[in-house]
Amino acid sequence: MTADLFESVPDVRPSREAIAEGAVLLRGFAGPFEVELIADIGGIVEQAPFRHMVTPGGHQMSVAMTNCGSAGWVTDRAGYRYDGVDPESRKPWPSMRPSLHALAAQAAAEAGFAGFSPDACLINRYQPGARMSLHQDKDERDFGAPIVSVSLGLPAIFLFGGLQRSDKPRRFRLEHGDVVVWGGPARLAFHGVAPLADGDHAVLGRQRINLTFRKAR
Ligand code: SIN
Ligand code: FE2
Repeated sequence: MTADLFESVPDVRPSREAIAEGAVLLRGFAGPFEVELIADIGGIVEQAPFRHMVTPGGHQMSVAMTNCGSAGWVTDRAGYRYDGVDPESRKPWPSMRPSLHALAAQAAAEAGFAGFSPDACLINRYQPGARMSLHQDKDERDFGAPIVSVSLGLPAIFLFGGLQRSDKPRRFRLEHGDVVVWGGPARLAFHGVAPLADGDHAVLGRQRINLTFRKAR
């Protein structure tokens, strides 16, 4: 746009890569939030520890999960759904910390989705070998709001396909601080994560943490 006018000014904005129509990868966008994010996640996990949920088909997920916000995503033999209560503690999920909400809203705005106000934040923990098979996020009440997905810790290969399961997904390496936002025509795109390679991240050690923000209700 006007970049040429400011050629001598260092560009401190995170890079922005369109990965599909309606889907953007904001590299490093969460970097400035890092310290607060990690402290907030620690507090949430103390109240609502990570657990391996079971799919309706009876398979235990390799990714361990917890939630914050007024709606938490859960799965068990009865199905996938949002629940305001943690089924383990029978207490409401920990609240969504302001720094988490702000990060999600700012990333969505940067990707062209102004006014995003998530009520759900699923926190996924991948240890080496954990993966998430291709799926659509479709347990939300309406698909007008985007999905904001924040990566922390070990790098992962994110698979981003089309609206049909059979569409060949493209592969993106997501690193600590990267944020992916998808909505509009990409809202129901199939996506997943390849098995996590082992490694030792300087801040988070042998794991990857993903935060997925959604407007569930
Ligand atoms: C998800 O689709 O819930 C997780 C995506 C990711 O871990 O990057
Ligand atoms: Fe998903």
